[in-house]
Amino acid sequence: MDDCILPNLRGEERVVLHLRALFEKRGYQLFRMGSFEEYDLYMQNRPFLKGEDVISFTSADGRLMALKPDLTLSLVKNTPSGETRKVYYNEHVFRRNKASGEYREIRQMGLEYLGGEGVQAEAEVLLLAAESLSAVGPSALDLSHMEFIEAMLAPFGACEQRALALEALREKSPHGMREAAKSAGLEQDKTEKLAVLATLSGPFEETYRKAQELAQDVPGAQKPLLELESVAKKIGETEGVQLRLDFSILNDIDYYNGLIFQGFVKGASQALLSGGRYDNLMQRFQKRQGALGFALYLNVLEDSTVLSRRANNRPADDYLNVALPKGRLGNQVYGLFEKAGFSCEGIGEKSRKLVFEDPQSRVRYFLVKPTDVDIYVEHGAADIGVVGKDILLESGAEVLELLDLDLGKCKLAVAGKKGFVPDPAATLRVASKYPNVARRYYAGQSQAVEVIKLNGSIELAPIIGLADVIVDIVETGSTLKENELAVLADVAPSSARLIANRASWRFKGEVIRRLLDRLEGLL
Ligand code: PRP
Repeated sequence: MDDCILPNLRGEERVVLHLRALFEKRGYQLFRMGSFEEYDLYMQNRPFLKGEDVISFTSADGRLMALKPDLTLSLVKNTPSGETRKVYYNEHVFRRNKASGEYREIRQMGLEYLGGEGVQAEAEVLLLAAESLSAVGPSALDLSHMEFIEAMLAPFGACEQRALALEALREKSPHGMREAAKSAGLEQDKTEKLAVLATLSGPFEETYRKAQELAQDVPGAQKPLLELESVAKKIGETEGVQLRLDFSILNDIDYYNGLIFQGFVKGASQALLSGGRYDNLMQRFQKRQGALGFALYLNVLEDSTVLSRRANNRPADDYLNVALPKGRLGNQVYGLFEKAGFSCEGIGEKSRKLVFEDPQSRVRYFLVKPTDVDIYVEHGAADIGVVGKDILLESGAEVLELLDLDLGKCKLAVAGKKGFVPDPAATLRVASKYPNVARRYYAGQSQAVEVIKLNGSIELAPIIGLADVIVDIVETGSTLKENELAVLADVAPSSARLIANRASWRFKGEVIRRLLDRLEGLL
């Protein structure tokens, strides 16, 4: 990497060249794909894109086209059935973020082994993934297996709670898993096993032993575990890369069927690398061969090099950074953290100070607006935080939801004038601080709605005729009562949750787990 003849290359450009050399040395050839594709390809494979919006345009001959949001689908579509191909690409993909509406151009480098069968092919691709991470810096490579997850979640059958269980697994939420299992009517011992599954994560060997114990009598769970073990053995150790097992790594079963993995690099707040075996995707395209591969999101790398360049001006990073909601809930939460041994002088005293740190307990608190906590954590500005479930439901932030703190209990509900009955033939006007929650709720009710976003004093809307009903939180019920309104339907319960950034979980897992264990002991 250092004998590069262009002295002014940026860090991520060096990495790209290094990876190209690595991939070519192992027999993978550069494959050029271009940026345009038929829009229909993405419409037929929506779940593969994990909710990303596709940017479309009309071609001169009137066809609806797309700027490629992904490269694997085009590659699979254009590979002859049965053919073996070892390729890599280095291109841009284009996406529109659903939440912010922002357009993004992402530099993506990827490697695909079409026709790659068995553990041998998996070890080859996984080793390249590990070596790619190692070229970037200290990192973590997390493995998981779709068949193992399928076997563990089999008690859910095809019931609707299965989706909730998958969500709980993704969020490392034992309380979410218990709720899903309870509402699916599963027995106590199965429920507890599933709650443990939601927390299984850590260095490969010790986590593998725990997984084996957990899956002892589970039909179909041993084979994928053994496969994971033999792949891990084959790739051995890679410098600077911790190999881990983590079942919150999940891909869509309609596309991915075996080994799946994600890579995180220290200093970046989201996964840099993501991949797995996608034989199911090949089958959907009537291709006879299996396949696997991974993509590297180079924009994440740019962010992390920016971070490391700034490192000298930044406070030491071995602190646990905690985003606390300002106000009453924040005070209660801080009280709990203090009891758990994460104290910090000065918090709670009357001042306008926003950052408090304690060099002894290596903890730093940021006081932020309650609705912003999940944003700080999702972007990695804070490692962990405490936020209401109502806010998480609204934002859909990509964070881990580690613990229900049983504080700040309330519910999201539809409220309006007593006895109000919506007219299904008319558009219902709904005022809310939670427009996404409101839209989702009514999408399941076959009721046309117009959602009006407000920022406070929501109860006023039905009184003065701005809206027919509101979707809001109800805690004691006194605001509704004093304004002569009533709950018309419950939407979802809420309470304060301990959340964590996905990358922080990999690199500061030990201290987060210590806090988590102590908090659990206090509840
Ligand atoms: C929240 C919520 C309700 C009220 C519910 O408002 O929007 O108005 O609390 O609590 P209760 O059931 O105990 O009466 P908040 O106090 O945050 O003020 P806001 O109107 O400015 O949003």
